[in-house]
Amino acid sequence: MPTAALFFDYPARFYLGKYYSKVGVENDAFMRSVADATRRLGSLGTVVELGGGPSLCAMFAMTAATESGPERVVWLDAGAPNLREVQSWLSGQPDAFDYSAILDWLEAELGASAQNVIERLRGARWDLRMIDLWAGLPADLDGVGDVVGSYFVAECATDCEAEFIELTKRVRQTSRDGAQVVLAYIRASSPYRLHDDTLYPALAVDECNLPSLLDLAGVSLANRAIRRGPIDEPPPRPGYSGMVFVQGQLTKCA
Ligand SMILES: C[S@@+](CC[C@H](N)C(=O)[O-])C[C@H]1O[C@@H](n2cnc3c(N)ncnc32)[C@H](O)[C@@H]1O
Repeated sequence: MPTAALFFDYPARFYLGKYYSKVGVENDAFMRSVADATRRLGSLGTVVELGGGPSLCAMFAMTAATESGPERVVWLDAGAPNLREVQSWLSGQPDAFDYSAILDWLEAELGASAQNVIERLRGARWDLRMIDLWAGLPADLDGVGDVVGSYFVAECATDCEAEFIELTKRVRQTSRDGAQVVLAYIRASSPYRLHDDTLYPALAVDECNLPSLLDLAGVSLANRAIRRGPIDEPPPRPGYSGMVFVQGQLTKCA
């Protein structure tokens, strides 16, 4: 069985600085997509984020898009530095990552008061768990999510289709019947590096092969929408061609 060992020491702060310290066309499209997927829900209930890493951006976008924030957040990731970053922001540590660029964008574009978003998110019940998603999930997470999200995870964790499908099964497992599923992928990614020579694997996914990969993982979505997202110009790194966003309501019969 593969392991998530590559991610145990994920460079959390470097990652946040590189990808979330400004809002270009990619983050604009990503946050709009997450907000659109959740806006009509009104209430988020329990949100599960699979491979959430250190980044709270999608949680900010969901919270901004809905009247009440999440009641509970189940945050699953293999990297201890990632969980420390999340905990640091939640507890308002002075050296926590500065999300001003993201919060300012939400205020300007979605009309969401940053202070209100922060308070609602910090007011939720957080369940931060260091978990290797390859190893399966504890039974108490079966069907727990009213909203289940995963962004830039399965295609950034393996170059093997069967392993991508195995990781994607966690979406189905953690979703209640009818849960809102919100997914985002790096489109046509090559293997990539972050802060050092570590080479992370990648599986090339796009709007053409994702439907069958999701079907094989049992992620059957009513009202499924799959949309290609843009790429920052000039591309910050070669080796990918934008993003792909997927959303819909899980039908558990699959
Ligand atoms: C590219 S980052 C994406 C982080 C975040 N979702 C975001 O939107 O920026 C990939 C994340 O997947 C996590 N990950 C990869 N494989 C995993 C596994 N088997 N179990 C748990 N987490 C995993 C890594 O720790 C890392 O945080």
